[in-house]
Amino acid sequence: MNDLAPLAELVDSARAEFDAADTPAALENAKARYLGKAGRITELLKALGALPVEEKKSRGAQINVAKQQVEALLTARREALAQAELQAQLRAEALDVTLPGRQRGTGGLHPVSRTIERIEAIFGSMGFDVADGPEIETDWFNFTALNSPENHPARSMQDTFYVDLKDAEGRWLNLRTHTSPMQVRYARAHARRHAGAEVMPEIRVIAPGRTYRVDSDATHSPMFHQCEGLWIGENVSFKDLKVVFTDFCRAFFETDELELRFRPSFFPFTEPSAEIDIAFASGPLKGKWLEVAGSGQVHPNVVRNFGLDPERHIGFAFGMGPDRLTMLRYGVNDLRLFFEGDLRFLSQFR
Ligand code: DAH
Repeated sequence: MNDLAPLAELVDSARAEFDAADTPAALENAKARYLGKAGRITELLKALGALPVEEKKSRGAQINVAKQQVEALLTARREALAQAELQAQLRAEALDVTLPGRQRGTGGLHPVSRTIERIEAIFGSMGFDVADGPEIETDWFNFTALNSPENHPARSMQDTFYVDLKDAEGRWLNLRTHTSPMQVRYARAHARRHAGAEVMPEIRVIAPGRTYRVDSDATHSPMFHQCEGLWIGENVSFKDLKVVFTDFCRAFFETDELELRFRPSFFPFTEPSAEIDIAFASGPLKGKWLEVAGSGQVHPNVVRNFGLDPERHIGFAFGMGPDRLTMLRYGVNDLRLFFEGDLRFLSQFR
């Protein structure tokens, strides 16, 4: 008799069941149906006992071959399932190594902030204090105290942003149009602090900060920076201004080959007044006079508003534009680039 056919069929059905098992648990259940205590192969082996010796041998060998085949199928399927599980796990935990890493960017100072720090360091080394004050200013500090009375035409030189708020005198507050009100704020505090003293220490201060005007083109921005300077003593002259400002420019631009000239001008708060121009002896701007600051001897009316006696206290003031100094230093020709926040531009200054 041919007993091999049912055995082959048994192996095939074990293969089919093992293949159908898609989890290790399902596979172990399928295994039990063939190789377990009551499994089909186990049952066949048990049945051998009833056979005559000769038949027992040959039948036993056939069943063993089938058993080995089933065991081999089982092992193969176990490995396949383990592999599949591993692959699934790898897929689930996959890292995309092509993603750019997350970095903490190294920040940098804005080029104008660098300039202001430079100005502070240089004037600091010459004994100047650094002062800071409000950007929303009263009419009195911004104009009147600086010798621009109401309705004075000089006010129209500074077309202003007003704030929808009034001060104690009922005048509109404005965004300061220059840092010059800091002269008055600082000097008044200084005068108060030293009131009654035999000799008042000199006032030596710079006040950098943001200022605002209705103005916008390649060299003007409605928000821009200024740095005010004030030096008041009992014997401070234009000559001192020239020395200090020349030293400052040479330190700032890191060259001694630089000329300075005062060009007569008008500001309500100084008399006489001058624009300060500089010219480099070399480089791309060689020989060109460049305006870098306004200046002058502080007007007696302003000294009076400092709370000081103009007969005794005299000195000079200047106001310069850190934005323009930054443009000159780095060769930038459009002021707006500084305030657009484009990192492609700004990161060049890191
Ligand atoms: N405040 C002036 C401006 O905004 C600049 C200036 C000129 C400041 C002369 C000064 C000065 O202190 O003395 O145009």
